[in-house]
Amino acid sequence: MVQVFRLAYVHFGTPEIARMLRYYQGVVGLSVVEQDDERAYVSTSIDHHNIMLSTSDESGLIGFGLQLMPNISAREAAQELNRNGIKASLKTNAVSGIPELVEFHDLDGYVVHLFSEMSVAAPGFQAHGVRPNKVGHLSVRVKDAKQSVEYYKQFGFTNTDWIEDFFGFMTCNRDHHVLNFATSDHKAMHHLAFELRDYTQLISAMDHLGKNDIPILWGPSRHGAGHNIATYHRDPDGNMIELFTDADIYIPELGMFEPRPWHENFPQKPRVWGTEECMTRWGTSFEQSLV
Ligand SMILES: [Fe+2]
Repeated sequence: MVQVFRLAYVHFGTPEIARMLRYYQGVVGLSVVEQDDERAYVSTSIDHHNIMLSTSDESGLIGFGLQLMPNISAREAAQELNRNGIKASLKTNAVSGIPELVEFHDLDGYVVHLFSEMSVAAPGFQAHGVRPNKVGHLSVRVKDAKQSVEYYKQFGFTNTDWIEDFFGFMTCNRDHHVLNFATSDHKAMHHLAFELRDYTQLISAMDHLGKNDIPILWGPSRHGAGHNIATYHRDPDGNMIELFTDADIYIPELGMFEPRPWHENFPQKPRVWGTEECMTRWGTSFEQSLV
């Protein structure tokens, strides 16, 4: 089986890399590991890149990279995908820091990379900025969330929750969600989420956004599905960015989440949420519904 264990990077197109870097480097506090005229590779701490920015007329999500479990090579993954009817190509040195990757287009045309090895750049954490732990999850708009949820199961993803029948949560590790799929009439990213260490870092991060004249669109509040405390704003290209902490931990062996005092069910298992109950567990009204 072509099984992955993490979302390693997200690839954006942008008309203005320099403006995006002022945000991802200066505000989020990530490190530029490598840059040329066409592309910038940005790291949260140890990876060669977790955000890849490519010059493009259009801004927005191009695709993302998932790291393969150690028991399968990129070459083997490409062979298996092609046997399964997915047109996948093996590429060498197509992305800096990754010697070999498999590239294919998913059901909606997002460009997905699967790879085994990425060079360890290890710029460490910056002294200033939000300084997230990692890229936590990516939420994408798709034609049919139910179809996408089924499609990504072939890569080892498990469905952990739903909002009604239009927003599916998927994990390939112990994080509540790594990929989300939202049924939509247009193809675009919904949001990209950075994981922070705790509430105090979240508060400091919002003060930091305020100082940089970046308005907070929604939150902070505790969601239903995932129970993460989340807040949302936009990057300079308008991509929606979530900062979160305290998300549920999934125990795949038990099909449940680690218990927390704010859970509704004991045990808390994957379930279907209503939209309103999922938006906030604190009863706060926000102008932007997010879904
Ligand atoms: Fe999210």
